[in-house]
Amino acid sequence: MQSGARTLVVLGTGGTIAGRAESPGDNVGYRAATLPVASLVGSIDLPGGFLFESEQVAQLDSKDMDFATWRRLALRIAAHLARPEVAAVVVTHGTDTLEETAYFLQRVLAPAKPVVLTAAMRPATSRLADGPQNLADAIAVATSPGAHGVVVVVAGTVHASLAVRKVHPYRLDAFGSGDAGPIGRVEEGRLRRLRDWPTGPGAPIGVEALPEDVAGWPAVAIVTSVAGVDARSVRALFQAGFAGIVVAATGNGRIHAGLEAPLREAIARGCRVLRSTRCLDGTVIDAAAAPPEDAIASAGALTPQQARVELIVRLLEQRCGAA
Ligand code: SIN
Repeated sequence: MQSGARTLVVLGTGGTIAGRAESPGDNVGYRAATLPVASLVGSIDLPGGFLFESEQVAQLDSKDMDFATWRRLALRIAAHLARPEVAAVVVTHGTDTLEETAYFLQRVLAPAKPVVLTAAMRPATSRLADGPQNLADAIAVATSPGAHGVVVVVAGTVHASLAVRKVHPYRLDAFGSGDAGPIGRVEEGRLRRLRDWPTGPGAPIGVEALPEDVAGWPAVAIVTSVAGVDARSVRALFQAGFAGIVVAATGNGRIHAGLEAPLREAIARGCRVLRSTRCLDGTVIDAAAAPPEDAIASAGALTPQQARVELIVRLLEQRCGAA
């Protein structure tokens, strides 16, 4: 945190953290994205010595996250971070696509100040809601010395944007960091670091690379390599104008023979392809020797969903450079 910067901005985008159910005992049959972010901020004890602002950037169930909302969110975060008095931005979000938004924001902004995303597994009206504690923990991390870049704080655990993934559909502790492990834990409002603060994965593309006309953003699909796979899926995607395909490959990034030929045809005709693994943990490991020239590029440790965001970002950057 920069000394002298004492304003924290909380941006709301919806999610279960802003959800409302008919009864306090209902943790499942609720409506996400209902309560305003100002009321979420108003429901917790805020640390002294800071000024708090809140802004509703969107109000959606994050399963329906879209490029227009991503762009608006990135622009609002960039605008707030550019204010010298702003120390950090906290974003309330749904859990379902949190990992995609976190990765997207890191690749677009790679901010020097902290941007902390948080969420909840139970609606705000729940008798045992987890949102207030998660929001308080996110604020604690946002004001911790040394914090920077985009991170996710849920269930007292701090995850790097490059590693975070939703691993459970119901548990309060629904996120993991795979092999990388969490950055730290939040205990009684204090961050306990478990490893170095992560850096990377490279220079941000900047909000200028995000065209306002989101209908023109590159279409990138995920194809899973499975038993009995049908090669027509890849050909149909290419013919439909998809600019990129991520293969959620088996094991160590290995692709079914039935998909290999259509993927290579697509690559030869200008489609970008990344090879990730459908394994829940670990990374695609290439042989020690330099990969052959025609090797399909590896997505390393990125999940298929994050690899898709990475490919969208690379294609946007390429277009921006070509313009
Ligand atoms: C959402 O992702 O917006 C709804 C589900 C959740 O936040 O847990």
